[in-house]
Amino acid sequence: MRVIVCKNYDEISKTAADIIASQVILKPDSVLGLATGSTPVGTYKLLAEKNKAGVIDFKDVTTFNLDEYYPISPENDQSYRYFMNDNLFNHINIDITRTHVLNGMAEDTDKECDEFEKMIEAAGGIDLQVLGIGQNGHIGFNEPDEELVAKTHLTGLTENTIQANSRFFEKIEDVPTQSLTMGIATILATRKIIILASGKNKHEAVDKLINGGITTSNPATMLKLHPDVIVICDEEAYTGK
Ligand code: GLP
Repeated sequence: MRVIVCKNYDEISKTAADIIASQVILKPDSVLGLATGSTPVGTYKLLAEKNKAGVIDFKDVTTFNLDEYYPISPENDQSYRYFMNDNLFNHINIDITRTHVLNGMAEDTDKECDEFEKMIEAAGGIDLQVLGIGQNGHIGFNEPDEELVAKTHLTGLTENTIQANSRFFEKIEDVPTQSLTMGIATILATRKIIILASGKNKHEAVDKLINGGITTSNPATMLKLHPDVIVICDEEAYTGK
C-alpha cells in the first residue's frame, strides 16, 4: 500500500483528480468505481474542469457507484444518485446510461445486487476504484462487524454512521437506516484503488488502515489484501493533529 500525505484537502483533490484523469487518458473506455460523501467533492470539481478544458473525455467511460441508501428515491436530494448527477455527471460529457448507481427503490434487493455484480462483470471489471473512509473505518457501507459480506448486498447502518451522515439531513430521523453496497470482494476485485481521507476525525481509521492488522472491526484494513492501493490523505488525517 502506498501512502501519499498531502498538505491539505485541496492537495488531496488535485492528486486524486490527476490520477483519475491519467487513468481516463491511458484508457478512454475506463470503468471507474466512484464514491460519494464530502471527501471526493473537490476531486469531482477538478475532473469537471479538466473535462471542460478538453484534457479528459468521458464519452466512453463507464461508472459504478459504491453504494446507495435504502430505501431512497433517486430524486431525493440526499440520494447518492442525485449527489453524483449534481457533483459530477451533469458537468461532464459522460453518457448517463453508462453511469450505474444501485436503485434505492428496488423492490427485490437481492435481484438488484445480483444484476449490479453482473453489470460490473459484463463491463470487464472496474479499472480504478475511488474510496472514502468512514470514521469507523467503513468502506462503501461495509460497516465494522464480526463478519463482512463479500458481494453487493443490503445492509444496516451503524449508529456512528447514521450520526455522521445526519449532517446532510434536516433531522437524524430522516437518515435511512439501511443501504445497498458493494461488498468487500467486489471492492477487492477492482484493479486499482485510491482511498481519500481528510481531517482529524479520520485519523483513527487511517492509522489503523496504515499501521494496523487486518480486521473486520475496521473494514478498510481489508484493502491490505489488494496489490495496488494508494492512500491519499492530508496531514490532519495522517497525524491526528
Ligand atoms: C459515507 C459513504 C462512504 C463514504 C464515507 C465518508 O457514509 N457511504 O462511501 O466514503 O461515508 O464520508 P465523508 O467523505 O463525507 O467523510
